[in-house]
Amino acid sequence: MDFLKPRYTPMNRRRRIYEGKAKVLYEGPEPGTLIQHFKDDATAFNAKKHEVIDGKGVLTNRISEYLFQHLNDIGVPTHFIRRLNMREQLIREVEMIPLEIMVRNVAAGSLAKRLGLEEGTQLPRSIIEFYYKNDALDDPMVSEEHVTAFGWATPQEIDDIMALAIRVNDFLSGLFLGVGIRLVDFKMEAGRLWEGDMMRIVVADELSPDSCRLWDIKSQDKLDKDRFRRDLGGLIEAYSEVARRLGILGENERVQTSGPRLVQ
Ligand code: TMP
Repeated sequence: MDFLKPRYTPMNRRRRIYEGKAKVLYEGPEPGTLIQHFKDDATAFNAKKHEVIDGKGVLTNRISEYLFQHLNDIGVPTHFIRRLNMREQLIREVEMIPLEIMVRNVAAGSLAKRLGLEEGTQLPRSIIEFYYKNDALDDPMVSEEHVTAFGWATPQEIDDIMALAIRVNDFLSGLFLGVGIRLVDFKMEAGRLWEGDMMRIVVADELSPDSCRLWDIKSQDKLDKDRFRRDLGGLIEAYSEVARRLGILGENERVQTSGPRLVQ
């Protein structure tokens, strides 16, 4: 994972708090805030597959901004404050819960494989799964028992996370349906936001075609990171199509790839 090593960043002398596979977190302008920078790196299979795709970070930043802003607007608490520039957004610093929360409406990916279901089969109801975020272990699936026994979250926090996940799923499913896209599944992360002595669980990280499965309702075309995972090509075109349908990108507009980015 060479690309995770610290790099020389001449335009950026801010303190780097954390670097992940697709994003970097920097110290924010005020206490309790961070800057979330979206990289062009695409990874799959715990970074065994890695490519830099010009413009991806610009698209995931814009799409995630759009989705988080709408969640804030309907009263679903998130870490998002505002977008700063093409690749960066201002967020609230939260204590991350070390779980990947998957919400599935349609069988696909690892669920289809694990249970021998045909991809595309509608599930009897939405299913929420937890995976322990740990690269060394390849993010294993865990149950609520593991989550509470190992203290990753309390039973009350699990209830809050599940309630949030259902609200996010309902909102995103409706939003995407309105623009001819089926929300097959998505990954969400959650964090603890402290306000004095009060703590709330909020939606954190990102929501974008990097972390969702989005299928065109008519053609069934994949408009998400499976284009990269499965070597289908056309990732930027697919993410741009999602951005266009949401009204983020104009009809014939292409994503600008210049502007602040990390340099090796
Ligand atoms: P899965 O079918 O591979 O378990 O993926 C379920 C959903 O979660 C899918 O929308 C892709 C997304 N996802 C991530 O965002 N990050 C990951 O590391 C994995 C494995 C999946």
